Amino acid sequence: MIKSIAVIGTGTMGRGIAYLSALAGYDTYVHDVETAALDGAQAWLESTLRKGVEKNKVTEEAAREAIGRVQMVPDLEPAVRQADLIIEAVPENLELKRELFAQADLFCAEEAILASNTSSISITELASNVERRDRFIGMHFFNPPHVMKLIEIVRGERTSDETVADTRAVAQKMGKTPIVVRDVPGFATSRLGVAIGLEAMRMLEEGVASAEDIDRAMELGYNHPMGPLRLTDLVGLDVRLGIAEYLSSTLGPRFEPPRLLRDLVDAGKLGQKTGEGFYKWEKS
Ligand code: CAA
Repeated sequence: MIKSIAVIGTGTMGRGIAYLSALAGYDTYVHDVETAALDGAQAWLESTLRKGVEKNKVTEEAAREAIGRVQMVPDLEPAVRQADLIIEAVPENLELKRELFAQADLFCAEEAILASNTSSISITELASNVERRDRFIGMHFFNPPHVMKLIEIVRGERTSDETVADTRAVAQKMGKTPIVVRDVPGFATSRLGVAIGLEAMRMLEEGVASAEDIDRAMELGYNHPMGPLRLTDLVGLDVRLGIAEYLSSTLGPRFEPPRLLRDLVDAGKLGQKTGEGFYKWEKS
């Protein structure tokens, strides 16, 4: 039974996953190669739990207990050694992730499960460096993780039924609804989401409508909570470009990133996190 979780990486996704893990009652070990990032993650967890209490989403007691379950761990080995489930949320780079999993595989307990929050990279390929391929799985969270209801569980070629069942149980304990998909490029969600996002960018390039009106088309015409361009700003243009490049190399030219996306990324306009993408954002 899973009682403790290690979260590797403290970007937007890692922090959010740590938040869910601690609130769901798991002892939570958070690691990042940049030690300074751990302070930022701790501060984010505390302020987001406070916001959760203010918004009546979380009780004071649950927030206090959750923060007591979190430990920031500067070294990888002690972080993963203590965990029953290791969730990786480092940047979307195949070699970086493969290297991390190879190390985690050596350090962690025999029964531990290794999970990747990748939004598009093949789970089978990520598992190729580890011994425990039956206990290797995709656990794809959505941004912002503490709000979005879905976890996409991705089953690699060798992932066992037991690993799927254990991961599904964790997702449910985190208050999420899991779906289970086969390990194909982009899984279900990124393939659909990126297809709409790239088409919206091509429409902007062609002058079909303004960014605001393209977004409104999906917000008001299809009841999407956020249009595809605003959503790309939220997710990060660099993240979307990385996924599009991977999908175009695996699924074909229909996922070729538009020139506009490459130009904005080259200009450092990565969306909300840098203050500008398709829109201008107040820096938080
Ligand atoms: N604890 C703490 N804070 C909470 C909370 C909780 N349990 N629940 C909500 N909040 C916070 C929210 O973070 C939000 O904070 P900010 O005002 O600082 O943003 C605030 O309370 C309001 O939350 P609401 O639930 O009232 O949500 P909203 O109506 O403002 O909608 C939204 C926000 C849910 C993000 C909505 O705009 C939305 O659904 N947008 C689309 C998001 C989306 O599609 N995400 C998927 C991206 S794709 C992806 O992630 C895949 C990938 O791999 C790249």
